[in-house]
Amino acid sequence: MTAQPTILVLGGSGRTGRHVLAQLLARGASVRAIVRSAARLPAELTGHPGVQVIEADLLSLSDEELRRHLAGCQAVVSCLGHTVSFQGVYGSPRDLVEQAVVRIARAAKVLRPSPPLRLVLMSTVSVNAPARADSRRAGFERALLWAIRAALPPAGDNQRAADFLCQAIGTADPHLEWVVVRPDTLIEGEVTRYTLHPALISSLFKPDNSRMANVAHFMCELACEPGPWEEWKGRLPVIVDDLTDTAGAV
Ligand SMILES: NC(=O)c1ccc[n+]([C@@H]2O[C@H](COP(=O)([O-])OP(=O)(O)OC[C@H]3O[C@@H](n4cnc5c(N)ncnc54)[C@H](OP(=O)(O)O)[C@@H]3O)[C@@H](O)[C@H]2O)c1
Repeated sequence: MTAQPTILVLGGSGRTGRHVLAQLLARGASVRAIVRSAARLPAELTGHPGVQVIEADLLSLSDEELRRHLAGCQAVVSCLGHTVSFQGVYGSPRDLVEQAVVRIARAAKVLRPSPPLRLVLMSTVSVNAPARADSRRAGFERALLWAIRAALPPAGDNQRAADFLCQAIGTADPHLEWVVVRPDTLIEGEVTRYTLHPALISSLFKPDNSRMANVAHFMCELACEPGPWEEWKGRLPVIVDDLTDTAGAV
């Protein structure tokens, strides 16, 4: 790992976000976490000397405040997602993930970090890669996803966020680089072996499993290490558990 990077975590109070916080701290990273309520974080995380908890509504922060929290960070890891409730699905913000990504990009443009800021965005296999790069996704699945996005407002949020990174930021931005991490069905469990794929490998109707601990592990690797970052930046890797792993350790 490079010397003690500082990483900004969004959505750290969520199911996957907590794994990310714990794993970053275990790696010795210095962590800033913007959460709506510090009370939703485990005490061992809030009391850790390596973490600075910023209690704030991310989308209500001014641009200047966000830049202050971002200054000096090597990477941002976002595990933001809509709460599974009526309010979370049909209330505002319907564009939580998209807005967060756009705001990070805007902040990076002003801060002009060198090397560019890394943005690791937790997404989902329901997100399509651009230019139909996911040859595994048949026309029927695309149509079904289109209908789901029309019926459930937040369902399109992850897609719009990914589209913004692919199209508006691209792969030659001098201030921001990104990886859109696409897990399949999230499940509990400790870190095990997992596999990474440049495109979809399974149908929506025959999903794979992705342990949240494994997703967190890959996102921490991306945020902290040079090798994985160089390999995956500007791409939308799919991460699934390695079913051949019987030892249960990476
Ligand atoms: N469920 C699955 O099987 C699955 C599969 C693949 C990918 N994904 C995607 O993975 C991502 C993370 O999933 P998860 O289950 O780990 O998430 P989660 O447990 O639902 O956590 C969501 C996080 O987002 C925060 N958040 C929600 N609304 C917010 C708002 N308005 N302003 C600021 N923060 C807000 C939550 O904060 P609070 O604690 O304050 O509510 C929490 O920290 C999501 O984008 C999801 O779509 C899910």
